[in-house]
Amino acid sequence: MNELELQLPTLEYKKSAEDFKGEFFENQETVINGSALFDQMEYEQWLIHNTNNQEGNIVNNNWVPATTFFAVRKNDLKIVGMIDIRHNLKNDFLAQYGGHIGFSVRPSERKKGYGTEILKMGIEYAKSLGIRKLMLGCFSDNLPSIKTIVKCGGKLTETKKFSDNQFLKIPDDKERLVNIYRIDL
Ligand SMILES: CC(C)(COP(=O)(O)OP(=O)(O)OC[C@H]1O[C@@H](n2cnc3c(N)ncnc32)[C@H](O)[C@@H]1OP(=O)(O)O)[C@@H](O)C(=O)NCCC(=O)NCCS
Repeated sequence: MNELELQLPTLEYKKSAEDFKGEFFENQETVINGSALFDQMEYEQWLIHNTNNQEGNIVNNNWVPATTFFAVRKNDLKIVGMIDIRHNLKNDFLAQYGGHIGFSVRPSERKKGYGTEILKMGIEYAKSLGIRKLMLGCFSDNLPSIKTIVKCGGKLTETKKFSDNQFLKIPDDKERLVNIYRIDL
């Protein structure tokens, strides 16, 4: 496995970021966890949105400041993953389910240890922001995510129904469970 570093998105990353996003879509994954809506926006528009939000010029009423990074492989500058660190949990969805961090690894680079490396770096960044009780949430059927979170020190504190349809329209018979993990920093 090659070393990664977290990089703030800039215009220079446009082509590689679009390639990164395209790979998820080709893999029938329309949601890119930890991308702060890059999966729904064009790069330039997203860049402005993202920079504003990071600096505290909140873009949506209920958003909290967050820092979103590309995880870039040092030897070839390929974007391997993304991670979004929310600076606080003053948002109902994040406080109940989402937690401080969302992250993902592009399909072709999974199961090589990168997810663990990225989450570890994200946790260090959260610590540098002064976060002391880190919360992480993931669906209880997302084994790759669970294993990655536990490898990074996550302690399961709660499993609850993801039943609040204000956030996602999930039919009752498709109700899913969410695991909540804590890490004391
Ligand atoms: C979760 C995710 C980031 C893990 O990335 P990754 O690079 O594959 O993770 P790692 O290679 O560091 O693997 C971490 C652990 O998970 C295990 N793992 C990874 N993929 C797995 C799979 N499909 N099934 C079972 N275990 C899996 C690995 O074996 C490893 O455990 P081990 O060391 O005990 O063997 C990646 O699967 C992903 O992007 N998923 C979609 C987005 C997502 O679910 N994000 C998390 C929720 S916010």
